[in-house]
Amino acid sequence: MKSRIALIALTLCASAACAQTTVTKAPFGKTPDGAPVDAYTLKDKTLTVKIITWGAHIIEIDAPDRNGKDADVVLGYKSMDAPNAGYIADNGKTYMGSVVGRYGNRIAGGKFTIDGKAYQVNVNETKVGNTLHGGKVGFDRKNWTAKEIPDGVELTLVSPDGDMGFPGTLTAHVRYTLEGDKLKLAYTATTDKPTVINLTNHSYFNLAGSGTILDEVMQINADRYTPINAASIPLGDLPSVAGTPFDFRKPTPIGARIHDDNEQLKLAKGYDHNFVLNPPHTLTHAAVIVTDPASGRTLTVYTTEPGVQFYTGNFLDGTLTGRSGQPYVQYDGFCLETQHFPDSPNHPKFPSTTLRPGETYHTTTVFQFTAK
Ligand code: GLA
Repeated sequence: MKSRIALIALTLCASAACAQTTVTKAPFGKTPDGAPVDAYTLKDKTLTVKIITWGAHIIEIDAPDRNGKDADVVLGYKSMDAPNAGYIADNGKTYMGSVVGRYGNRIAGGKFTIDGKAYQVNVNETKVGNTLHGGKVGFDRKNWTAKEIPDGVELTLVSPDGDMGFPGTLTAHVRYTLEGDKLKLAYTATTDKPTVINLTNHSYFNLAGSGTILDEVMQINADRYTPINAASIPLGDLPSVAGTPFDFRKPTPIGARIHDDNEQLKLAKGYDHNFVLNPPHTLTHAAVIVTDPASGRTLTVYTTEPGVQFYTGNFLDGTLTGRSGQPYVQYDGFCLETQHFPDSPNHPKFPSTTLRPGETYHTTTVFQFTAK
């Protein structure tokens, strides 16, 4: 009898309805307009992940080291409104853990053309005249609506036609689900006019939990990258990484070459470049593997995207303070923003970022946390 019950339970648990992840919801302060922000905690045997509706931010990921000891492996703030230590105060300085959109990374001059029609979108990098991460009020500064789904939470944002200058009403969904040691981010979107889209997550990882990330060992499955000009816009060519500090095809400490006499590193004050991921772009081929030698914590990234922006927190300047009270300084975290290439709307040879009515934008990234 007992074994029959176990068998029934096992059969039921093979279906998505039998979630292995518990999902709980709690208030997390208010938006600048006074609307409630909720935090969703996703917890399974391996990981605990917290996500808030404001900017669809990941605010915490607790992952075990080789001895089973947890550390929070993403940078984050303690509240919405703490002065210099909250998500409101961030205001486009770091994009700490948010979903950036409509267009992650830069569009030169905020200008592009679709079907012969020219668009000017909001320019928020005013010194150099670019649009960065969707403009002044990007998706990171919107309160998404949320609903619980099996093993996770689905966040939805409707961006109106003309939002930050972008054409078309865009309906975007991000589904965060926890599956064992994997956090999955599945993005979908539709539009009612031709538009451009490039959604990604802007988490800063630190596999040690705190301190510099320069000793963490990075491997990126990319033979090529997109070098930039002084305004951080891709030059357009895709040179080989061979013989440069951008060659991470073999595991290499992040800090091993970051201070090399290299023009590209100097332009960005470290790594802040798009790597052209070698195909296939699937959820079974690792795009990036990072290990913290001290704790053994390892992050493996899988993605359907053709690129990843590897950014070493070059602009963290100590003015914003993290959850545990420490000011965040340069090289305290690294970002792996899986994406289409920066400024794609102005580079016809890059994979297209145009989304048209009737099509569904669909992209998935998995962050897997193990320990060795
Ligand atoms: C991205 C950009 C960087 C920087 C950060 C946020 O990674 O490429 O240049 O703007 O976001 O500070």
